[in-house]
Amino acid sequence: MTSATLPTPADLRITPRDRRFGRDAAPRRLWHGGRVEATAIYNALSTTFPAGEAFFVESVRRFREGAPPKLAEEIKAFTTQEAIHSREHDAFNRRAADAGYDLSRLEAQVEKRLAITRERPPIVNVGATMALEHFTAIIAHQLLANPRHLAGAEQEAAELWRWHAVEEIEHKGVAYDTWLHATRQWARYKRWKVKAQVMLYVTRNFLVDRTAGALELMRQDGVTGVRAWAKLLWYLWVRPGMFRKIAGAWLKFFLPGFHPWNEDDRHLLRAYEESARAGPQPARKVRRAV
Ligand SMILES: [Fe+2]
Ligand SMILES: [Fe+2]
Repeated sequence: MTSATLPTPADLRITPRDRRFGRDAAPRRLWHGGRVEATAIYNALSTTFPAGEAFFVESVRRFREGAPPKLAEEIKAFTTQEAIHSREHDAFNRRAADAGYDLSRLEAQVEKRLAITRERPPIVNVGATMALEHFTAIIAHQLLANPRHLAGAEQEAAELWRWHAVEEIEHKGVAYDTWLHATRQWARYKRWKVKAQVMLYVTRNFLVDRTAGALELMRQDGVTGVRAWAKLLWYLWVRPGMFRKIAGAWLKFFLPGFHPWNEDDRHLLRAYEESARAGPQPARKVRRAV
């Protein structure tokens, strides 16, 4: 670690919030404001989570043995959070399937990418996890900081995405710190080079696969060709423009001394907890890491 690197805050607590969403709600196909492209991209993202987050957990846990006690604890809490996210997105995806979407091609693509990654050494797997966790953290930041992204979405669905976003921010340093620990013997340049290569690789796959996945779901709603591309690209890159808005945070990953907690965005977590306290909330329990 360099002196320019700000580590994960010492007083950060990673708290798994064991919540369930939308179990009683009848599935509505276009849950995101009745919009085909908005529903499609969030459904496409959600399709990646059950298998993807299981892969994150598996990659990070391999390095728990011998990790400093604080990091080992954080890995435990990270594991619990991601396991609950997998469960809730699995339920969310089942509702999308009940509403008539066929997710099998999207799921097969996720499995294919994961199978290729799993053939690589464990250090590359934790590197891919660290890069994808940066993605989820900067998307989560945007989602919470800018209400426009979930405007018009059904309440339970919006709640699920916000809850997930909060926990992604909370544990955003865990895969990164695990990577730093796993590569502690490496020269600085080698570490940066591998990290940058992995990030470019996962970014390419992320953009290609999520765009293709969303277009496939839009096709199932009868929107195809240039019209589908135009709607989706406008939504992702112009308004509300999630991908454009995370571009700066994505670039920071390549700076020397980068650490996810160089950006302390815990004010978003506090705002979430305050609004949860203020509004009517379903019963929930906070559970200890297992
Ligand atoms: Fe997650
Ligand atoms: Fe995560």
